[in-house]
Amino acid sequence: MSSEENKSAAEWGPMRSFGRIKSRKLKPQQANLFETLLPQIEASDAHVTEALDSGRELWLEIGFGGGEHLAAQAAKNPQVTFIGCEPFLNGVGSALRHIDEVGLENVLILANDARPLLDRLPPASLNRIFILFADPWPKARHNKRRFVQPETVAAFARVLKAGGAVRFATDWANYADWALERFLACPDFEWPAQGQADWNAPPADHVTTRYETKGLGDCRPVFFDFIRR
Ligand SMILES: C[S@@+](CC[C@H](N)C(=O)[O-])C[C@H]1O[C@@H](n2cnc3c(N)ncnc32)[C@H](O)[C@@H]1O
Repeated sequence: MSSEENKSAAEWGPMRSFGRIKSRKLKPQQANLFETLLPQIEASDAHVTEALDSGRELWLEIGFGGGEHLAAQAAKNPQVTFIGCEPFLNGVGSALRHIDEVGLENVLILANDARPLLDRLPPASLNRIFILFADPWPKARHNKRRFVQPETVAAFARVLKAGGAVRFATDWANYADWALERFLACPDFEWPAQGQADWNAPPADHVTTRYETKGLGDCRPVFFDFIRR
């Protein structure tokens, strides 16, 4: 892990890509898991370094919401260590409950913005990154709050291993175009899609997310797998 771990909050600027960090009061069981389970599986420097040293594949999910996708993928891929980042504390509470119920031992949780973590990770350390149904910030004046920006795409290129992948999904047409444009502008990524079936249908290993089922966007869900050259 980088020794300059505190530089990034200032470097990324004050722009928040997320909305509320808490809504309703946490249920007692979830509040309890913040005290008992979270310290054991927190994506601290020590835990992430241990994961990196283990030689296991490392997959990152940014904005896991309630953690349904994170927990399901972790259960399906026990050979992989997952890091999930989510600043919305009720979502973290829900993810902790899933992790506890299934007894998952391959998940680390960062209850915060993913961007400083991206800075702290060594180059070529991740195999996969998921950004699923990210906050769309549809009004033009809010577009700068979208998670996908040239800076984040460059950060993904730095932390992914060659052949690694970013999966981006959205049901907002303008965010789909926005993300495509920014990933294709980065020479480190290629998009091997051949035709509509490659982005209009969920990939075989996709797990439906809570936001996906809400259908709040203005188009059918699209799924882009960008490959690190
Ligand atoms: C629309 S929700 C989708 C949640 C989930 N992926 C799903 O599909 O159900 C987007 C989530 O991304 C989170 N988010 C936004 N910016 C983030 C950031 N910088 N780091 C980590 N998570 C972020 C938000 O808090 C929110 O929970």
